[in-house]
Amino acid sequence: MPPLEDSAVWQQLEQFGRDAQHLSIVERFERDPKRAESFTIRSDGLYFDYSKTTLDSKSLKSLHALAKAQKLDEAKKAMFSGEHINTTEDRAVLHVALRAPQSAQYMVDGRNVSDDIHATLNAMERLCADVHSGAWRGHNGQKIDTIIHIGIGGSDLGPYMVCDALKPYAKDGLNIHFVSNVDGAALQSTLQKVNVDSTLFLIASKSFTTEETIKNATSARQWFLQTAKASEDSIAKHFVAMTVNKIAAIDFGIDTDNIFPFGDYVGGRFSLWSSIGLPIALYLGFENFRALLNGAHAMDEHFRSAPMDKNLPVTLALIGLWHRNFCGYDTLAIMPYAQNLQHFPAYLQQVDMESNGKEIDRHGRPLPYGTGPTLFGASGTNGQHAFYQHIHQSKVITPCEFVAIKSPLSSVEGHHNTLLSHVIAQSRALMIGRKNGETIQQPEKYFSGNRPSTTLILEALTPFSLGQLLALYEHKIFVQGHIWGLNSFDQPGVELGKILAKGIAQYIARSKTAQHESSGLDPSTQQIMSYLFEE
Ligand code: F6P
Repeated sequence: MPPLEDSAVWQQLEQFGRDAQHLSIVERFERDPKRAESFTIRSDGLYFDYSKTTLDSKSLKSLHALAKAQKLDEAKKAMFSGEHINTTEDRAVLHVALRAPQSAQYMVDGRNVSDDIHATLNAMERLCADVHSGAWRGHNGQKIDTIIHIGIGGSDLGPYMVCDALKPYAKDGLNIHFVSNVDGAALQSTLQKVNVDSTLFLIASKSFTTEETIKNATSARQWFLQTAKASEDSIAKHFVAMTVNKIAAIDFGIDTDNIFPFGDYVGGRFSLWSSIGLPIALYLGFENFRALLNGAHAMDEHFRSAPMDKNLPVTLALIGLWHRNFCGYDTLAIMPYAQNLQHFPAYLQQVDMESNGKEIDRHGRPLPYGTGPTLFGASGTNGQHAFYQHIHQSKVITPCEFVAIKSPLSSVEGHHNTLLSHVIAQSRALMIGRKNGETIQQPEKYFSGNRPSTTLILEALTPFSLGQLLALYEHKIFVQGHIWGLNSFDQPGVELGKILAKGIAQYIARSKTAQHESSGLDPSTQQIMSYLFEE
């Protein structure tokens, strides 16, 4: 097979991308009165309009041909059947198994993992029942009323976002806090708020070696023992771990019965469906965690079986490819018009940028084309008063993915219609722009318009629909990574910083006594270190 960029279909798409510049989005609607309907997908409570883009039926057909030429169907099958598609780490990628019914078979290295998954789910359910009923008590008999979740990256962003998004479903009488940053200020300010005797710590780390998490967990443990004036035995009543690395959790001092495992076929950024989702189950109730899994499973089934032109993840992915590779747009804004989805962009940053922010393909070839976009976003309407000026008028064109919720989450009268009027207005303003001399006379107020956006509407924000939304984006990222030829499931780029930080930490520890010792560091780094640490 020729390299992707030399294939006939890729080159045809490049030509279509150039041609597309000659016909604006507005003109496309004028030419095709059915455009809105033709470029909308409705599926299982989701409404997705991508008509405000420069795509047409020709370019869409070629994008489908590109996906076929790249053997997308085979790639999907490979993922769902547990092949080691994470080639660098030689692992299967089966987060989809975590949300499937127990009767489904998911094979990893010849073994059906469904029973393990459901055994962990059952253990999580039991813990939730015990904490909620008060059967689980702290060291001096107090009922648990506070959860502190300690984790970082994929072991934090997903659960944090979901708990905030679905907080109207939260169980009465249970508070939750998340500590991720190794900055002691994060842990300290959290510990100041809680009662040690009624607090349960969840230590979430797939590897159980991540420096930030282990440091925060160690300090939390020390604080617990000192503040509660409790014995080591009491740790079992206040510390629980979620990890693949059971041995490291035991070494840390977690009781074996309090370890909730998952398989290494679950990547960190795809792990909120595993035991890493325990804070979700505790805070929202196990039945709501189950509904979240069900929503994701429904999207998995849709992704597996819907034809390409009706397939939401595939369509979203191909639109992204169109913008990234054939229109030349390097950035992507994710704009949820829902306060409860305020952390969705940050969560998605990890899923997308850690998966597809890569310049080398899965065979080690440096790639000549762009891959994962620079992704940012904020909840609407807050973003409008922050960076939308850039989105409307800068030379950089940023495609926007708007997410809206049809029914309101609050009962505050009149607000929801205002919110919806803004999301509708923004996609329209991006498209139509404002021409000098037509409605205004001042050139500085002119803006070109013709800026693409898509609008995804959820009927309501529920555990089920949130599960659908998250799985939709996971599969979008999988499709894009596959077509670009990437391994979307490793993250070698973040390793170097971790290694260097260890060396620098050792140097800092020594520097007070050996200030003038040659560090072997570059002059800028050396100078910063001198400024920070020399007395
Ligand atoms: O940032 C790198 C990373 O490995 C992420 O992929 C992962 O989600 C995060 O660190 C935390 O890792 P762990 O769950 O092993 O502590």
